[in-house]
Amino acid sequence: MVHMLNRLMDAQSWARPLGDFNKRWLGAIYRALGPLKDLAHGRWLGHPVHAATTDIPIGALTVTIVLDLANQRSAADISLVIGILAMVASAAVGAADYVDTDGTALQRATIHSTLMVVALVIYLVSLVLRAGDPLDRTAPVVLSITGYLVMTAGAYVGGDVVYAFGNMVSRHAFRGAGGKWLPLELDGGLTLTDLVQDQPMRGRAGINTLVLVRHGDTVHALHETCAHAGGPLAKGTVVDGCIQCPWHGSRFRLSDGAARRGPTVYDQPRYEVRAAETGLEARRVTG
Ligand code: FES
Repeated sequence: MVHMLNRLMDAQSWARPLGDFNKRWLGAIYRALGPLKDLAHGRWLGHPVHAATTDIPIGALTVTIVLDLANQRSAADISLVIGILAMVASAAVGAADYVDTDGTALQRATIHSTLMVVALVIYLVSLVLRAGDPLDRTAPVVLSITGYLVMTAGAYVGGDVVYAFGNMVSRHAFRGAGGKWLPLELDGGLTLTDLVQDQPMRGRAGINTLVLVRHGDTVHALHETCAHAGGPLAKGTVVDGCIQCPWHGSRFRLSDGAARRGPTVYDQPRYEVRAAETGLEARRVTG
């Protein structure tokens, strides 16, 4: 079943150019909104806001079906309005994540958002028909149920974007901080004294790749893989005491790895570095 659905989604070739087009105009809007984009991602919450907001319309629109079937007209209409408003709010915050999505995840996210827009239009038509207070409510009720089925299909594809493609999942979710010191090797066999002020340098400690930055008298070390979507922080730039990812512009404070600008909503693991008798060593202290 899942393979058939995956093949069906992969066959939606229209979604790739539409996704690129949507990214351009939505990106322009969110760039103009500045800090509001961070608010929509959920950096302030340490959790993607879209994941939390999607439950509200689904809950309200489920209630609409139940109330319609129980012939509770006014209550059904009120829950429909709540569901529609919550869908719009959820779409607004989801769009912020969407503009920083790439590749197959973007193709899937485009199918997801298209299905949700279709469901929203169906719900709006149902609402307009209800506003006329018809004696026979068969058409608006059938439309609501149709909208619900489309929304459920959209939710399935949206879940795929997160669970199958890891979109907005922390790239460091599966490794905790450990107290073990590991030998640290800098690229090109460099030493700490070779580090140039505010110039990121890559190093390796065990299976982990680190980015090291000399800032003032201190050498900071963070995991090199961006928590947002795996961008290479060693190719990033240092801005205001943070390292900025070259892929989507997330910023992490060098001193502690705290996320200072989205799209990441997760902090970056920080490492301590020391010079041991046998050479450099590093150990993860946060994340
Ligand atoms: S990978 Fe997206 S900001 Fe780093």
